[in-house]
Amino acid sequence: MTEFFSAVSQKENGTKYAGDVIRRGGLVAFPTETVYGLGANGLDGEAVKRIFEAKGRPQDNPLIMHVARKSDAAKLWRKVNPQMQQLMDVFWPGPLSIISTRSPIVPDEVTAGLDTVAVRMPDNKTALAFIRAAGVPIAAPSANISGRPSGTTARHVMDDFDGRIDVVLDGGACRVGLESTVISMLGRPTVLRPGGVTREMLESVLGPVELSPAVLGQLKAGETAMSPGMKYTHYKPDCRVIVALGGPERAARAISAAYEIEEIKGSKCVIFSSKQTKGFYHGKTCDIIGDRSEPETLCANLFSALRRYSGKADVIFAEAVSETSLGLAYMNRLLRAAGFETI
Ligand code: TXA
Ligand code: MG
Repeated sequence: MTEFFSAVSQKENGTKYAGDVIRRGGLVAFPTETVYGLGANGLDGEAVKRIFEAKGRPQDNPLIMHVARKSDAAKLWRKVNPQMQQLMDVFWPGPLSIISTRSPIVPDEVTAGLDTVAVRMPDNKTALAFIRAAGVPIAAPSANISGRPSGTTARHVMDDFDGRIDVVLDGGACRVGLESTVISMLGRPTVLRPGGVTREMLESVLGPVELSPAVLGQLKAGETAMSPGMKYTHYKPDCRVIVALGGPERAARAISAAYEIEEIKGSKCVIFSSKQTKGFYHGKTCDIIGDRSEPETLCANLFSALRRYSGKADVIFAEAVSETSLGLAYMNRLLRAAGFETI
């Protein structure tokens, strides 16, 4: 059975109970500022294996370690160089996972056999209290069945895992709504996955930061991913998703034209529009995802909107946004949800 602790009931008891479950090798879903995580004792390889089983996650996709103190992160890497220290000082707690060479205490099950490990300190009170109560680093991927949109509410987590994990801690809806930025600090700093800490923010601290080509593109056959997670299908709802490229007017024209295509006519369609563009789609079903001039609103709503129409709509049309600052993270997730289908 899955124990569910509501935001009110969990304060002391929930996080303490969850910490005990972790030390006994169990699985706990917990809120973070990005998405919900599905956690296990990060120092216990057997416990970590249960995460992969519960999610149906490919074995070669490594997990992120979550800590409640910066000094605990240092124990998980071989060393902390000055640039890594700067990143922790400026962005932690916050949505930034830092990859460097792992220390010997990190089990192979966490890193999928890689010589590196990703670590982050989440900016969420419940998460930090839970990690402190556990007294060990928490290995956690996003709390969703592998390939599906990440969970951003405790309800999403229950939809995917009720009866299959030990505890869910409810902390309300996640503030950022998309997973953390992943930066590799081996060699030249490189963003492997964009998120709430933007490339622009990272460059203001580190100087030039590379962007892995897999961030907006599709890997070609035979290409290896710097981040194993990038080669898998991701964030897919149970329906077709089509991204309309270009500025708002162009995207709106493309979507309206698509409604006239034989293949689309008669299907149940919904348009992910914005405050600015809702007036473009007379008589069509729209869901206002957010405000184009405040991309954080789009990010916060994307996964729950994808889940809302999964298995209910036939086609989701979604407008592209500019790939700068948080727009880069939004487009990274949206294009993957669409399997890179664009008009
Ligand atoms: O915001 C987040 O990061 C959430 C919350 C729960 O903290 N977690 C999360 O985990 O999104 P997950 O497992 O869904 O995504 C982790 C990504 C994957 O793409 C994985 O391949 C990559 O990080 N990753 C983890 N460790 C890595 C490593 N050592 N080298 C390269 N990529 C790594
Ligand atoms: Mg994930």
